[in-house]
Amino acid sequence: MSKLTDSKEWKALEAHAEVAKTWQMKELFAKDPTRADKFSAEACGLFLDYSKNIITDETMAKLQDLLKSANFEDMRAKYFAGEKINTTEKRAVLHTALRYKGNDPICVDGKDVMPEVRAVLKHMEDFTHLVRSGKWKGQSGKSIKYVVNIGIGGSDLGPVMVTEALKPYAEKPIAGETSPEVYFVSNIDGTHMAETLKKVNIEETLFIVASKTFTTLETMTNAETAKAAVLKAFGGDKSAIAKHFVALSTNTEAVTEFGIDPANMFEFWNWVGGRYSLWSAIGLSISLRIGFENYMKLHQGAYEMDQHFKTAPADKNLPVILALIGVWYNNFFGASSYAMLPYDQYLHRLAAYFQQADMESNGKTVDRDSKRVNYQTGPILWGEPGTNGQHAFYQLIHQGTKMIPCDFIAPANSHNKIGDHHQKLLSNFFAQPEALMNGKTLAQAQEELRAAGKSEEEIAFLAPHKVFEGNKPTNSIMMDYVSPERLGALIAMYEHKIFTQGVIWNINSYDQWGVELGKQLAKKILPELAKADAELHHDSSTNGLIKWFKAHQA
Ligand code: F6P
Repeated sequence: MSKLTDSKEWKALEAHAEVAKTWQMKELFAKDPTRADKFSAEACGLFLDYSKNIITDETMAKLQDLLKSANFEDMRAKYFAGEKINTTEKRAVLHTALRYKGNDPICVDGKDVMPEVRAVLKHMEDFTHLVRSGKWKGQSGKSIKYVVNIGIGGSDLGPVMVTEALKPYAEKPIAGETSPEVYFVSNIDGTHMAETLKKVNIEETLFIVASKTFTTLETMTNAETAKAAVLKAFGGDKSAIAKHFVALSTNTEAVTEFGIDPANMFEFWNWVGGRYSLWSAIGLSISLRIGFENYMKLHQGAYEMDQHFKTAPADKNLPVILALIGVWYNNFFGASSYAMLPYDQYLHRLAAYFQQADMESNGKTVDRDSKRVNYQTGPILWGEPGTNGQHAFYQLIHQGTKMIPCDFIAPANSHNKIGDHHQKLLSNFFAQPEALMNGKTLAQAQEELRAAGKSEEEIAFLAPHKVFEGNKPTNSIMMDYVSPERLGALIAMYEHKIFTQGVIWNINSYDQWGVELGKQLAKKILPELAKADAELHHDSSTNGLIKWFKAHQA
């Protein structure tokens, strides 16, 4: 018995989907002139048009019934209240506390976490001002021009995405401050560190070792390499470490053991998930790059989205709407992936960031009751900025055999007003969802070919290739600018979408056991690579690959 798929709400949706699969969105538009108004909502400066989906009022009502049957309101209250909804790790999930602007206490195990949250933010603020004003000096008395963030996964992807998205804010002058150049090293491939070290002058560089656990192999290996580079630059003088390294971590002991002064450690807590940690000390590289005040505006946008998510009715609640539509296609139309397509070059790492947030959260096969699920959980997320994607993979979205729902995202204004670039960019942003919905019929394709003077024989051959079935679902999300506030709201919107879907699928979105097995095996293999005559006890494929590697090592 599956509680979910045997529920009356699920069965009602299954039956409804059979009917919905016969609908054509363009006919739904023709029947109802108010459709776009009805299926759109606006909050925190984000406008969502979800009318180009294979839905009616009845669909949304049935999806909301499913949500209610999952005890959504109760789960949402627990999420914000700091209850330990990450049950396998016995942890609260409180990234919302990190950006909370109210005065109420938020308690974990009976203790208000807000004083500590505010103290770390104050530490980040003071440190940001010290570095950006030039008062923080390196070992040779020079100010900091370069920051290298060493981290991976949640300790890298968020800061990379945000510093790229908000680059114009790093360039806007703030009185008495200059923005350091910020680099990110994540890959254990030595090339990543080697290439980065070529770009910086160690005497003017601050290394941030960002790791929640401070045990992650990639990060610790890269941090040791950076430490060796600093020691080499200063003739082995260990006192240089305190001036060139800070740590962002929950693990004071390991930070101290590495040689970083605990006074230069920015703490966070086990109730901050790695992939939700850019609001915590992990955001230090963001604050250094765009200034603490802009970093706080990012928090403000997210806080406003938190309030919206907590209070808005389901039919106007942006994260809830996105979650329900996602479930509709994932579970009732067999769509296995969705694309995130930002029409803004500064958002070029958005999909990469949300790949971790969504796929590490909802890529689960066991439910909250430790039973294997008999339904689809998290989708595959992928994407690239428009219009680049149009010239790469949109072909498959338009004419392939798979349904790929898409989120199109665009600002009304560009930070770079150059000629009519933005008008041209946005004309594509509007055209693609329209084309995906309307498609092109065989008759239209034939007519176009006839008008182009093709013979009837050529028309018969070519026309089927020029048919676009259409009826491909999209959401369109707009904002005025890609500003700190709007970006904060956008990130929080998707975070809450992921939470809502996890509630419907009855999975724990906040653990990540799936990344462990590969790590354990790599640990076992590492000594085998170093020892020439190591006995190999893997499968014949793995043994063969290791042998080939050893035979070809220069
Ligand atoms: O990939 C697994 C993971 O645990 C992520 O969840 C996390 O963001 C990343 O590793 C980095 O972990 P840490 O911050 O502890 O180094």
